[in-house]
Amino acid sequence: MLSIKIPLKGINDVKKILIEENLMDKSYKIKTDKYNGFIPIKSQINIEELKIKLNEVGHDDLYRIAIEDVDLESFKKKPISMREQLKGNLTDKEIKDMKTSFDVIGDLVLLEIPENLEKHKKIIGKEVLKFTKTRSVFMKKSGIKGTIRTREIELIGGEDSSRTIHKEHGIKLALDLRRVYFSPRLATERKKVEKQASEDELILDMFTGVGPFPILMAKNKNIEVYGVDINEVAIDYLKENIKINKLNGVVHPIHGDINDVAVEFNEKNLRFDRIIMNLPETAYKFLDLAISLIKNDGTIHYYEFGDDYDSIVNRVENMAIKHDKNIEILDKRKVKSTGPRTWHIGVDVKIVGS
Ligand SMILES: C[S@@+](CC[C@H](N)C(=O)[O-])C[C@H]1O[C@@H](n2cnc3c(N)ncnc32)[C@H](O)[C@@H]1O
Repeated sequence: MLSIKIPLKGINDVKKILIEENLMDKSYKIKTDKYNGFIPIKSQINIEELKIKLNEVGHDDLYRIAIEDVDLESFKKKPISMREQLKGNLTDKEIKDMKTSFDVIGDLVLLEIPENLEKHKKIIGKEVLKFTKTRSVFMKKSGIKGTIRTREIELIGGEDSSRTIHKEHGIKLALDLRRVYFSPRLATERKKVEKQASEDELILDMFTGVGPFPILMAKNKNIEVYGVDINEVAIDYLKENIKINKLNGVVHPIHGDINDVAVEFNEKNLRFDRIIMNLPETAYKFLDLAISLIKNDGTIHYYEFGDDYDSIVNRVENMAIKHDKNIEILDKRKVKSTGPRTWHIGVDVKIVGS
């Protein structure tokens, strides 16, 4: 490492001059021995000019100043982004091609690698593991698909276990990324819904997954929630999540198709103050059922993928009219982007009895 060797008493003045002229390499530490300091510099400098400047501020032992190549300790600047971490492993163009966003779910990372970079997946996995200090890194191998809304994933770094415990808003969610649906990007949405619920409500989460909505709601409020899912593994995790969170309210986990489970609700004449319908791909198919299960003046949190609110609101309104009911839109929002100009849209709608 190139440095300026300078008697100890001159360190501060040399440092000042080097910083003013943007010549000091601040990624390395200044080293000292009994007599001299060694100040890291970015490249060769004109030592005679430096001596003149030092002379102007009162230094006379200028013959001892020299440029020396010494070992200096680096400050080990931590990379501040995944792209920076990948420098030296991938070309600048390849780094630019990497998506900057990735999900951290518990101690797992889930990321997307463009096809042209798949040949580097192991090195990307290793570097992302270092950068995020997580246990395992997985890459997406497909989109979310099928009835149970899972995706194929491939391990590219760390331990081969897709089970984890994710924490959000003070709750713990055990899950297996390979076997159940889960998105940490819905955390804000879950909080928005939870805030709207009042004590003593009877709630139905029609497509509950591992139960992030019911667990959050029952953690904070004395409510009763039925969480239904067709994926048995998700319901097993919901049962575990009920155990590992100290809940104020009660959560009833039910494995089954909501169409079948609703028959039992009807037999018991159960009607709900609030229904959550987070199955945006096909929620419209269950709207009829949801409106038949909601109490008068109850709220449905309805989700669809789309690019405008009108068609979604019209669909809900038409279905309410079919049930001789009206609607009042309490809120509508873009929950998250799902592609160019398409959104996961959420509508909070009060179903008003006529
Ligand atoms: C998009 S995920 C949402 C999970 C959870 N609400 C969340 O926000 O993380 C939809 C869930 O609906 C479940 N599902 C799909 N069809 C169903 C049906 N007919 N009855 C009950 N659950 C169903 C899937 O297994 C999946 O877990």
